[in-house]
Amino acid sequence: MTTQTITSSDIILTGDRTTGPLHLGHYVGSLKRRVELQHVCRQFLLLADAQALTDNMGNYLKVRENVLQVALDYLAVGIDPEKSVIFIQSLVPELTELSSYYLNLVTVARLERNPTIKDEIKLRGFERDIPAGFLTYPAAQAADITAFKATIVPVGADQIPMIEQTNEIVRRFNASVSRDILVEARAVVPEQGARLPGFDGKAKMSKSLGNALPLSACADEISHAVRMMYTDPNHLRVSDPGQVEGNVVFTYLDVFDEDAERVAELKAHYQRGGLGDTVIKRHLEGILQELLAPVRARREAFAKDPQAVMDMLKRGTEKAREAAAVTLAEVKGAMGLNYF
Ligand code: TRP
Repeated sequence: MTTQTITSSDIILTGDRTTGPLHLGHYVGSLKRRVELQHVCRQFLLLADAQALTDNMGNYLKVRENVLQVALDYLAVGIDPEKSVIFIQSLVPELTELSSYYLNLVTVARLERNPTIKDEIKLRGFERDIPAGFLTYPAAQAADITAFKATIVPVGADQIPMIEQTNEIVRRFNASVSRDILVEARAVVPEQGARLPGFDGKAKMSKSLGNALPLSACADEISHAVRMMYTDPNHLRVSDPGQVEGNVVFTYLDVFDEDAERVAELKAHYQRGGLGDTVIKRHLEGILQELLAPVRARREAFAKDPQAVMDMLKRGTEKAREAAAVTLAEVKGAMGLNYF
């Protein structure tokens, strides 16, 4: 992890599209680190409802409802709104305004070459008819990042092209006004192994693949997920030697069991034969139940007062607007758009 190279003078911005509640994969890949980083430097967390609409315009109610759900997930894992500024993207019009200028610094061809955009176009079947807002969301994301002068953007590896494109915009803008107004940002991606496979063994835990464990999962859902977990299909009898590679139970134990020595022993035993799937699953289940019980309890407590959560988001959004307005004024000033 690169936390060590992040200092108190850094500014972090990252966020999530509000298309669904967050799951254990988000926890391992990013939420856990945000909880740590909020003590290191200023951190802005964006509920990207406007970006979610770029491919969910027909589902705007889902996008709206998940603003609260994602906020609850943040609070449940221990993100502290006194330390992190949590805000709603669509309520910061400065971002839209900034991105309208940035659109003049990117070409359609460059947007079409963005590897993440390319993949997403395929995935969503947009080949024939790409919504313009979708194609151009990298410029909007550049606005999200630069508005806060973010230096660090913790994201999944799939977002690296977004940060690259952001930095291109930063360099072009600064060059065109001959001043260093905007700041380049560094993508920080989770270390290898921080990407949790789905419990079916598929490479990625994802709600749409149906292999995800939401952070709000009840005890029964957790046991069910562990019971369904992919192990070694050739490990038929307890006495048979079993495979550890690709065995999701062991992948999860590597991530969640803090006792690495015990995991090593369990692996050796499993490989020798004589250790049954039920036993290792029960062990993992205990760990996951213990991890998620307090998260669920905190989530339920916050969910009892949604108005208080919305008030918190309102305060966060006000802070975010203030910061974004400063950058917007600098950007416009540098272009001579400071008329009065
Ligand atoms: N694109 C990100 C995602 O798919 C969400 C996001 C929007 C974001 N704006 C951002 C992430 C700015 C980091 C920085 O999850």
